[in-house]
Amino acid sequence: MKRYYITTPIYYVNDAPHVGHAYTTLACDVLARFMRLDGHRVHFLTGTDEHGQKVEKAAAAAGIAPKAFTDMVSQNFRTLAKALNISNDDFIRTTEPRHILASQAIWRAIAASKSPKGRDNIYLGKYAGWYAVRDEAFYGENELTTGDDGRKRAPSGAEVEWVEEPSYFFRLADWQDWLLAFYAENPRFIAPDTRRNEVVSFVRQGLEDLSISRTTFKWGVPVPDAPGHIMYVWLDALTNYITAVGYPDTKSDLFTACWPADLHMVGKDILRFHAVYWPAFLKAAGVEPQRRVFAHGWWTVEGQKMSKSLGNAIEPHHLIEKYGLDPVRYFLLREVPFGQDGDFSHRAMVHRLNGDLANDLGNLAQRVLSFIQKNAGGVVPKAGVLAPGDEKLIAAARNVLPTLRTELAEQAFHKALDALWQVVGDANRYVDEQAPWALRKTDQVRMNTVLYVLAEALRRLALQIQPFMPDAMTRLLDQLAVPADARDYAAFDRTLVAGTTLPPPLGIFPRYVEEGAAAPTRAAKK
Ligand code: MSP
Repeated sequence: MKRYYITTPIYYVNDAPHVGHAYTTLACDVLARFMRLDGHRVHFLTGTDEHGQKVEKAAAAAGIAPKAFTDMVSQNFRTLAKALNISNDDFIRTTEPRHILASQAIWRAIAASKSPKGRDNIYLGKYAGWYAVRDEAFYGENELTTGDDGRKRAPSGAEVEWVEEPSYFFRLADWQDWLLAFYAENPRFIAPDTRRNEVVSFVRQGLEDLSISRTTFKWGVPVPDAPGHIMYVWLDALTNYITAVGYPDTKSDLFTACWPADLHMVGKDILRFHAVYWPAFLKAAGVEPQRRVFAHGWWTVEGQKMSKSLGNAIEPHHLIEKYGLDPVRYFLLREVPFGQDGDFSHRAMVHRLNGDLANDLGNLAQRVLSFIQKNAGGVVPKAGVLAPGDEKLIAAARNVLPTLRTELAEQAFHKALDALWQVVGDANRYVDEQAPWALRKTDQVRMNTVLYVLAEALRRLALQIQPFMPDAMTRLLDQLAVPADARDYAAFDRTLVAGTTLPPPLGIFPRYVEEGAAAPTRAAKK
């Protein structure tokens, strides 16, 4: 069976989880679920990034020792994963013993290796330069801007401070040609293309050696055999992806089955770490680089940057409570072409919920299933001879699966959903054209055929929408009496069996009614 290993970034625990975090994890969840249904053995990893100065400072501000602090706040991300119905197979924390072991092992492996120019990959020096705690990143003078307050800032807007300390360096400069050749040989390594071009031009400009140990604070993984040095938090953090599959035991079943990871999903702000540093670290350590990194865009809220200071960071729990989990999952992946930035607005959310979900899919299912319940004895109707229009709808619902495979291999969630909703549209037009309510009086055989075709189209749609909205589609498949062992794509062609009793239909997507409104608003009716 083919393996599929997918990872989210590990989240800094200093921050309360917001919709940006939920987004990355959700995108991975949809891919993990789709790949499982499509016959892969999936390993889906998420977790928390718990070392470094930023977390140490947050713990100090809370007046709690770092370990106790991270034990407490890491839990928020587990809770979030549960609330979002995330199907991760593992949850890694960088403070776990397995990870300290793996981080020290990768350090040793890199330290024992030579750069492409034949020099030691790690050497001791002194770092004197700018550091942004918020980004946990070093910046060159030329990358900084000066704000209105006269203070220097990183390109991300984070404040920087001058740091001077003894430090080990990774000989990144020697890796420039290797990286450029690697990108050229692996055109799918960085996506989308615009991001790929940015990384390539960044590397073409030349790379500087990278400081990979810190000595002015304590909260991190100790550098092996170098008292006083702790590993740079990004080297520690990136290593989580191999820790979780058993590194340094590269001969283990899990490691050989999973590595190289198929996809590291990240936000655009952390692409450089994943697409430049990480493949170089891995190659230096004698481990093959991951297969692909996808950098998605950022969400703003009602047109504004989401931030703690503006107090507008959207809490995923709040969204779920207000709109329901599956509508939120759907909205985030449908509204914005994946890879681009997007804006979260209440209006857009309600528009999708009442339009695409309650109206287009929910009504379709409700109309068909209640009609069957009332007029076809509450069982899967028996089809007569299929007319070309019937075949066409069934074929549309069947033939969208190859499109899903292609689009999801490119992480084009919006296109996958668009293709599915084309079929939802076809099915709605088919109901209107065939008018089973009229056939009830004139031709019951034909009425049953039409209902069968619709139920079969719904079955195929529900199977394919499952990765996006697992709860709602479970309910729909239950209502179609699809057996539990016939819900993956191996069973895609196991058609509904005429005569099977169907449970009473229940609505799957309640319409969102504005607070205080007596009836659905006009916008909600679409
Ligand atoms: N700890 C590092 C990642 C280490 S991975 C080896 C980190 N953590 S983070 O918590 O700050 O961010 C995690 C993810 O959340 C990133 O992919 C980031 O892009 C994403 N988002 C944070 N805010 C976001 C938005 N407003 N919108 C979309 N995604 C955003 O970076």
